[in-house]
Amino acid sequence: MTIFLNDEFMPIAEAKVSVLDRGFIFGDGVYEVIPVYSGKAFRLAEHLRRLQHSLDGIRLPNPYSDDKWTGIINELITRNPGEDQYLYLHITRGAAKRDHAFPNPPVKPTVFLMSSPLPTPPAALLQSGVGAVTAQDNRWLRCDIKSIALLPNVLLRQMAVDAGCAETILIRDNDFMTEGAASNIFVVKSGKLFAPPKDHLMLPGITYDVILEIASAHGIPHEVRKIAVAEVHAADELLLTSSTKEVLAITRLDGKPVGTGQPGPMFAKLYALYQNFKRDVMRA
Ligand code: PDD
Repeated sequence: MTIFLNDEFMPIAEAKVSVLDRGFIFGDGVYEVIPVYSGKAFRLAEHLRRLQHSLDGIRLPNPYSDDKWTGIINELITRNPGEDQYLYLHITRGAAKRDHAFPNPPVKPTVFLMSSPLPTPPAALLQSGVGAVTAQDNRWLRCDIKSIALLPNVLLRQMAVDAGCAETILIRDNDFMTEGAASNIFVVKSGKLFAPPKDHLMLPGITYDVILEIASAHGIPHEVRKIAVAEVHAADELLLTSSTKEVLAITRLDGKPVGTGQPGPMFAKLYALYQNFKRDVMRA
């Protein structure tokens, strides 16, 4: 596997980062996950825009122009095997003497990119759907920043795994749903798709946008608004989206069936439209 670290491409085994790196010491950095279809980074402009938003959120100047990012990303794709990949892009505030405040003068940020094969969700999972649990969203108030400090997400996601499930759906203030520990969540009720509004309490998912665009383009009734916890438990269908999982049906929640307990008609429709979109747009 060839990775990119601080202006150089190299085998992953040769990549070294200082133990004083602020990513290692403080989780002081941001990241992106970008899917690649047929050798082309999907929605790169949108991912780079979200990266800029995250960098602005942590007050770290962007080390590269969008053109330079595009060149690095395209070269990384060609240096790694497979037409479909997913890229992990990570920037930290660099290595400096340990002090919570920003290094002054600033030091060179650490920039790391790697590529992995992009697995499509297995057929069995598409047929059965996945289980989820609910938990209190105990993260900070800037979940719109794609921060590498993921300990809350790690602990929340492990709750799902411990319960034999795939995802944890997060509830703020015992009141409303925000997102999943590593995905966005949609609710379906009486044939209508509901999505929570993008705000500081959730990550603005690139796949979330794709699903809403597909819904608009195909006349699927949908609404973006706050979703109460009771609506999550009373949903006919629940859907999960992310760059690596595409769209999946959640068919069990906290040990109880969601709707019929099988992937429903909204999932079937959006999954098919998403696959068409992948074939016609993402691979184009
Ligand atoms: N995670 N919300 C959270 C908290 C996420 O971590 C992710 C994605 C999403 C979905 O965003 P997108 O559609 O842009 O992938 C929502 C990535 C895949 C990860 O951390 O590996």
